[in-house]
Amino acid sequence: MISIIRKQNMPAGAIFCTLLALTIHQTLTTDVSPTVVTPETSSPPASPATPGPPERGSYNVTNATDTVCLLARMGLQLNISFISSSHGTTVQEVLNLHPNLIKFSGSCAPDFATLKLTEDNITLTFSFSLNSTSNKYHLSGLELSAALPDMAKRLDVGSTTLNYMVGTLGHSYMCQKEKTLSVTQDFSLNTFQLQVQPFSVNGDFGAAEECELDEDDMLIPIIVGAALAVLVLIVIMAYLIGRNRSHAGYQTI
Ligand SMILES: *[C@@H]1O[C@H](CO)[C@@H](O)[C@H](O)[C@H]1NC(C)=O
Ligand SMILES: *[C@@H]1O[C@H](CO)[C@@H](O)[C@H](O)[C@H]1NC(C)=O
Ligand SMILES: *[C@@H]1O[C@H](CO)[C@@H](O)[C@H](O)[C@H]1NC(C)=O
Ligand SMILES: *[C@@H]1O[C@H](CO)[C@@H](O)[C@H](O)[C@H]1NC(C)=O
Ligand SMILES: *[C@@H]1O[C@H](CO)[C@@H](O)[C@H](O)[C@H]1NC(C)=O
Repeated sequence: MISIIRKQNMPAGAIFCTLLALTIHQTLTTDVSPTVVTPETSSPPASPATPGPPERGSYNVTNATDTVCLLARMGLQLNISFISSSHGTTVQEVLNLHPNLIKFSGSCAPDFATLKLTEDNITLTFSFSLNSTSNKYHLSGLELSAALPDMAKRLDVGSTTLNYMVGTLGHSYMCQKEKTLSVTQDFSLNTFQLQVQPFSVNGDFGAAEECELDEDDMLIPIIVGAALAVLVLIVIMAYLIGRNRSHAGYQTI
């Protein structure tokens, strides 16, 4: 009698849990699939075509005593608009920088550091500022100077009042995902697999502080973990209820 109740109880609980797990799994997978990055092969052909993700380069700046004072690792893609000399109109161009062609230099002061990258006729300068009161640094400036063969005139654009890549002194700033930094109407910079440390470098990158984009990635494991915890609770409760019932049944008999 008791064994029959138990046998009927447990499979029902197990089936319920399996169904619940399947439902949660399906909801999660349907929720997740739109965020999966699909290669942009089917996007309408832009003129000129959008290149793939840029190659990641490593850059550093040394101070007067040959000590590395700024470290950066990133893939860079420029998104610029300019007047084309062949079309006579404004064109939009997305172009990747090539680490193997880039020459880099820069400067380090106690609360201001720059990284200057030059590839052919393109010069891109990053400026970082440190607030020594709050011990926070940020990317405060981006300047671009470009003279592409199709440009009617040299493009000189930039801003010195930006507030990107906010990090804490002694730590590096990291953003694995693609991030768009808007600079002016004619210029934005897309960064890929970025890690920078503009101040207090001690040989290598300090512990990384991740950008919000990367932190969003953590949401999925957290949701899965929470769902699993709920499942485990349900199984334990089903087991306890089943045991209580059979125990009660045993006592009444
Ligand atoms: C800095 O750059 C130079 C030149 O590319 C390289 O030889 C050196 O290993 C780099 N140093 C660090 C700490 O990354
Ligand atoms: C270069 O950096 C090192 C380490 O931060 C520091 O000890 C040294 O004083 C710096 N040299 C100059 C000339 O700023
Ligand atoms: C380039 O910038 C234009 C205008 O801001 C935008 O519509 C386009 O999506 C950008 N392209 C890339 C690859 O970032
Ligand atoms: C650099 O700019 C000059 C003048 O605009 C041009 O003649 C030259 O071809 C350019 N070089 C490259 C590598 O684009
Ligand atoms: C530096 O940080 C402090 C505290 O957060 C703030 O009050 C101050 O305005 C900041 N200074 C600059 C130059 O941004």
